[in-house]
Amino acid sequence: MMHSPGLWLLLEGLLFSILISNPADAIDLDISDEQSMKNAASTTVYAMMTYYKGNETGHIPGAFPSKWWEGSALFMALLQYWHFTGDTTYNDELRVGLEWQSGDDGDYMPANYSSYLGNDDQMFWGLAAMTAAELQFADVSDGFSWLSLAQGVFNTQINRWDTSSCDGGMRWQIWPYESGYTLKNSISNGGLFQLSARLARYTGSDTYFKWAKKIWDWSLSSPLLSNSTWNVADSTSAESDCSTQGNTQWSYNYGTYMMGAAYMYNYTNGSSEWLSAVNGLMNKTFEQFFPESNGGIFEEVTCEPTEICNDNEILFKGLVSSWLSFTALLVPSTFDTILPKLQTSAKAAALSCTGHNNNTCGVRWYKSEYDGWIGMEEEISATDLFVANMINFGGSAPVTSTTGGNSTSDPTAGENDTSSDTETYVPITAGERAGAGILTVVFVAGWVGLMGWTVLGG
Ligand SMILES: *[C@@H]1O[C@H](CO)[C@@H](O)[C@H](O)[C@H]1NC(C)=O
Ligand SMILES: *[C@@H]1O[C@H](CO)[C@@H](O)[C@H](O)[C@H]1NC(C)=O
Ligand SMILES: *[C@@H]1O[C@H](CO)[C@@H](O)[C@H](O)[C@H]1NC(C)=O
Ligand SMILES: *[C@@H]1O[C@H](CO)[C@@H](O)[C@H](O)[C@H]1NC(C)=O
Ligand SMILES: *[C@@H]1O[C@H](CO)[C@@H](O)[C@H](O)[C@H]1NC(C)=O
Ligand SMILES: *[C@@H]1O[C@H](CO)[C@@H](O)[C@H](O)[C@H]1NC(C)=O
Ligand SMILES: *[C@@H]1O[C@H](CO)[C@@H](O)[C@H](O)[C@H]1NC(C)=O
Ligand SMILES: *[C@@H]1O[C@H](CO)[C@@H](O)[C@H](O)[C@H]1NC(C)=O
Ligand SMILES: *[C@@H]1O[C@H](CO)[C@@H](O)[C@H](O)[C@H]1NC(C)=O
Repeated sequence: MMHSPGLWLLLEGLLFSILISNPADAIDLDISDEQSMKNAASTTVYAMMTYYKGNETGHIPGAFPSKWWEGSALFMALLQYWHFTGDTTYNDELRVGLEWQSGDDGDYMPANYSSYLGNDDQMFWGLAAMTAAELQFADVSDGFSWLSLAQGVFNTQINRWDTSSCDGGMRWQIWPYESGYTLKNSISNGGLFQLSARLARYTGSDTYFKWAKKIWDWSLSSPLLSNSTWNVADSTSAESDCSTQGNTQWSYNYGTYMMGAAYMYNYTNGSSEWLSAVNGLMNKTFEQFFPESNGGIFEEVTCEPTEICNDNEILFKGLVSSWLSFTALLVPSTFDTILPKLQTSAKAAALSCTGHNNNTCGVRWYKSEYDGWIGMEEEISATDLFVANMINFGGSAPVTSTTGGNSTSDPTAGENDTSSDTETYVPITAGERAGAGILTVVFVAGWVGLMGWTVLGG
């Protein structure tokens, strides 16, 4: 018997209406509606926290054994989620985990991980602590203050400023035995630049401002950052005295320099030098990573088209979405450019968060449908994007010590941590350094980068 086309149409119609009427099927997002945006963020943050076991018996708060730095991305997402939505559901886990991983010396060099960290890994935890201070997440009464933790990271990192090659710069990795130690890269330098700029603005201390300027100037003097094209390369080799350029394009390298420049702009009460840096980097970020050919939707262009993004790389869009939202608040003239970009991406991301009948988010937002990927990183990035869109509803800007920030300062934090000093440290065993760092960047950025490296100064 032939199926009647009429019956098929009826069945399809029924199926379709079941699908669209099932509230679990899609994040129903109205970008102009505050509650709708909060609901979207609440859905993805819940999914994100299903991957977090740190508050359960037998687990260590804030620990992500095979990918330690990612805890900092999760806690930054929770901090921003709480700040912009007012939902305190996850604050206890956030407070305990963010404090626990700071280690004995209050500088995010915890003994369990410190022998195989990159400067970027430690730096990201410093940014998380800085975010806590700036968003007025109350200090704990019996541990390190958030501000002192950011200062501890800063103090230990500037001790590693390396003038043995390239006239300065941060190496990617901390220890000479780590693969990647021979590289100086944008996320380590641009990350410390950002942290220094944020410390300058929060504390008003010139020391941090001078370091931020010094790192910026050094970056310009290297193949990493250009203030004419605003290209941001991924890495350069210390072994060749920074004459090579690994120019793989990653959004977070642009984002971290842009975010730092936004703080410098705001701290200097609106200097035109920093304004043009913010605009240049913002423009270039949109041009490179929000391609008009894909609807102007945020895309990690180096890995998404071929679906080779690793966990680290899936987080970059989330980090940059957050940094764009902070930039919009700190450099008000950028607000009207940034918000529509975040909105267009959020609409697409909501359509991509339609997996498994439970709003699982995929990787490629520009597909505007679920693409089959699943993981904590996907949920963190979607959360960051939805939360970034909350600036449309009057979210308040990061504070300083003179505008309501009361996190306790300790300008010497971390200075007692001799184990963090690269001169004296003796590594434990090779077996214990199995991959907590942002390692994939070695593989993808390093490898792809090497193929594209050109000798600049011949
Ligand atoms: C959604 O469903 C998938 C597949 O069953 C599962 O792995 C995931 O944990 C679920 N997510 C949530 C938030 O329940
Ligand atoms: C851990 O936190 C989650 C919420 O994210 C909660 O559902 C769970 O009960 C907590 N577990 C413990 C042991 O406190
Ligand atoms: C380090 O590992 C020990 C043993 O598993 C654990 O008790 C401790 O909480 C861990 N510390 C951190 C900061 O992860
Ligand atoms: C600091 O400010 C936070 C947020 O406003 C508040 O919860 C906390 O109690 C304050 N701490 C002190 C020591 O005043
Ligand atoms: C670009 O950087 C160089 C080197 O720091 C500086 O001399 C120059 O003034 C900068 N140009 C602009 C347009 O800011
Ligand atoms: C910015 O302006 C404030 C208030 O007028 C002033 O106290 C501060 O010194 C200025 N900062 C800089 C870096 O010029
Ligand atoms: C610095 O940021 C604050 C908070 O958003 C904003 O009110 C102020 O206008 C900014 N300063 C400048 C010079 O744009
Ligand atoms: C950024 O782009 C806008 C719009 O395309 C343009 O007007 C502006 O001059 C650009 N700014 C910089 C610093 O490139
Ligand atoms: C560092 O050591 C000095 C001298 O022993 C001590 O006074 C200070 O409290 C220590 N700082 C930290 C952050 O532990």
